[in-house]
Amino acid sequence: MAAFQMPSSDTKADFVRENFNKIASKYDRFNDWSSLFMHKSWKNRLVKEIEKETTGQIKVLDLCCGTGDISVLLERSPRVGSLLSLDFSEQMLEVAKNRLEGPRAKGRATVEWGDATNLSQVKNQSLDAVSIGFGLRNVNHLDKAISEIYRVLKPGGVFVNLDVGKVKNPFIKAFADFYFFKIVPLFGYILWGGKNEMFDYLPVSSLYYPDQEGLKAQLEKNGFESVRYKNFVFGNSVLHIAKKPNRP
Ligand SMILES: C[S@@+](CC[C@H](N)C(=O)[O-])C[C@H]1O[C@@H](n2cnc3c(N)ncnc32)[C@H](O)[C@@H]1O
Repeated sequence: MAAFQMPSSDTKADFVRENFNKIASKYDRFNDWSSLFMHKSWKNRLVKEIEKETTGQIKVLDLCCGTGDISVLLERSPRVGSLLSLDFSEQMLEVAKNRLEGPRAKGRATVEWGDATNLSQVKNQSLDAVSIGFGLRNVNHLDKAISEIYRVLKPGGVFVNLDVGKVKNPFIKAFADFYFFKIVPLFGYILWGGKNEMFDYLPVSSLYYPDQEGLKAQLEKNGFESVRYKNFVFGNSVLHIAKKPNRP
């Protein structure tokens, strides 16, 4: 395992924001390499789940949008009427703003600063869907973020969350851990041109994040229902789908 020390919960948000700011220009290539280019198909599946779980023209929030990878896919969906993309890393947002320049000019997409644990700019029950890709495990207060997502969703709305999962099979887990903790940081160092603790943080942060059933239970505890998940690559990556009850 990497010997990286996780920041305390008091300093985690600053650590995460500052370091995503630093690596923003390398992030997309790091994602391609570290997921062996599979993250695109997982993100396409996320969009398909939103389309399946909603009807008509929908209002969507892509939270922890980073460089806007999922936002771009959502914006292309004919079902998406309006898109709000939020992140608290200014440099990641700059990349997202450039990628979504056309839809922003047309008023179809808004890309702005926002904190997942305090969505003060989003009204109660105003959205049909919220997505997060590889963001929730970086948030310092998981319950605060989940309760904010619940607050801004309309009754019947859907939350879809893509992140790392836990592999159950011990043989596959041994191989997956070696790849994730030893090889993935090397991809980051190569792209960065030297050692950078952010590329150690990214795998180590998965150790402090709930497993598939744990996150399902946490979503249910916060009021979500019909929570299910889809594992990718033996559970290395997982997509949770959670519905806000269809009651006022
Ligand atoms: C690993 S990147 C994921 C980016 C993108 N969603 C993707 O799937 O490629 C995680 C993002 O979460 C953002 N983030 C972490 N904590 C946040 C918070 N509390 N509020 C808003 N954004 C946050 C980081 O700034 C970073 O851009």
